[in-house]
Amino acid sequence: MLELRPITATEVDAFIEVMAGAFYERRDPWHDAWFRKQVPLESTIAALDDGAIVGTSAALPLTLSVPGGRCAAAGITAVGVQPTHRRRGLLRAMMDRQLRDARAANTPVAILWASEGSIYGRFGFGPATRRLGVVCERPNTALIDTPSAGPLRMMDRPEALQLMPAVYDQLVSDRPGLLIRDRTMWDAVGADDDPHLPASEARHYFLIHGDPPDGYAIYRMRRSETHDGQRATALVVELTALGPVAEADLWRHLLALDLVGRVERRMGPIDDPVLWLAQDPQALQVQWKTGIWARLLDVPTALQTRRYQAGGVLVLDVSDPFLPEVGGRFHLQVRDGIGKCVETDDEPDLRLGISELSSAFLGQICFGALSRAGRIMEVSPGAAIRADRLFGWDPPPWCVDEF
Ligand SMILES: CC(C)(COP(=O)(O)OP(=O)(O)OC[C@H]1O[C@@H](n2cnc3c(N)ncnc32)[C@H](O)[C@@H]1OP(=O)(O)O)[C@@H](O)C(=O)NCCC(=O)NCCS
Repeated sequence: MLELRPITATEVDAFIEVMAGAFYERRDPWHDAWFRKQVPLESTIAALDDGAIVGTSAALPLTLSVPGGRCAAAGITAVGVQPTHRRRGLLRAMMDRQLRDARAANTPVAILWASEGSIYGRFGFGPATRRLGVVCERPNTALIDTPSAGPLRMMDRPEALQLMPAVYDQLVSDRPGLLIRDRTMWDAVGADDDPHLPASEARHYFLIHGDPPDGYAIYRMRRSETHDGQRATALVVELTALGPVAEADLWRHLLALDLVGRVERRMGPIDDPVLWLAQDPQALQVQWKTGIWARLLDVPTALQTRRYQAGGVLVLDVSDPFLPEVGGRFHLQVRDGIGKCVETDDEPDLRLGISELSSAFLGQICFGALSRAGRIMEVSPGAAIRADRLFGWDPPPWCVDEF
């Protein structure tokens, strides 16, 4: 018999076994420490078959930066089903329970990182941030001349952890899509014992810019021997700068490291300033990928947590096949950047699904593209352009934390 319920303290081991096994990962003390610190037991959902855990899911209580504000978010994580029990509807059942629980707790949005992009659209999630991968081959990546300030200081991790949060907190107040980090989350940033990293690449270096700090970079090294000697790749884990001077100084430093032939950043923002700092932008290898997926659970509340860069009125007819009670017709009026959203019977300007609205929530301008792709329907002419003006946000959303 199948049962769905949160786990108890005695079931944590079995839960982690199934969760790690679903991702073909070796069980490691790191998983246990992460789980015990971050995941409230009451937010877990286990699927049990005759008393044995065969499916797992949990929701982290997160706070997400949204355009001009912050919003409580359920961070869906630890989603896995044992290979013997797949494609029987377990994920669907767990997701239904997880999203209804979050909605009942007045959490207006759920977010997640998807292992595969084809899974979560059916549950109302839409891609809501992008991340940019940039590879700079050393000899081809000269930067334009810009003012420089410094100082730059290398620090050990405990020292750097004293200084980086203040810089990150300022970034969060400026850019949507980021998670507000508490001490527990910082404990996982730049940790050398992360089992997902090969041991030879696991050492993190911490570089602080400015005094008081206005930027930092965390990077790792992948070493390799070539016929001309050692040429390492510097792997940028995080680069946060509060202005163009810190940004350029940090990049310039990374690109000038001895014995380094290449600098790679996998999780940068889609508007990464290095695209504009490079003398020859064509020499950079650039690739964008989806970042976090978002899912609105309460449309009026979610749309009122964020600010808007233009004024106007828009009536949205939102369908939500997975959670019909979330859908409806909504009148959004924006004045002085503040949105007021209520249910309405007015004629709609746009008809769209909850996943498309969720994609636009954090400010990625996409209504026009969605309309051209036939994913949303303009009822009043020009509505997609008006929606883009309302919802678009600069800087664009970016999430650096995988959870
Ligand atoms: C992804 C996973 C959790 C799905 O669990 P499941 O119990 O097999 O999923 P369900 O049977 O409830 O499927 C629900 C729907 O999603 C679809 N689906 C499930 N997994 C899918 C996948 N990997 N790719 C595409 N579609 C998928 C099913 O076909 C089904 O479609 P339907 O709505 O048309 O019927 C499971 O395959 C798994 O553990 N995979 C490895 C770990 C992983 O990727 N976890 C997700 C982390 S974000």
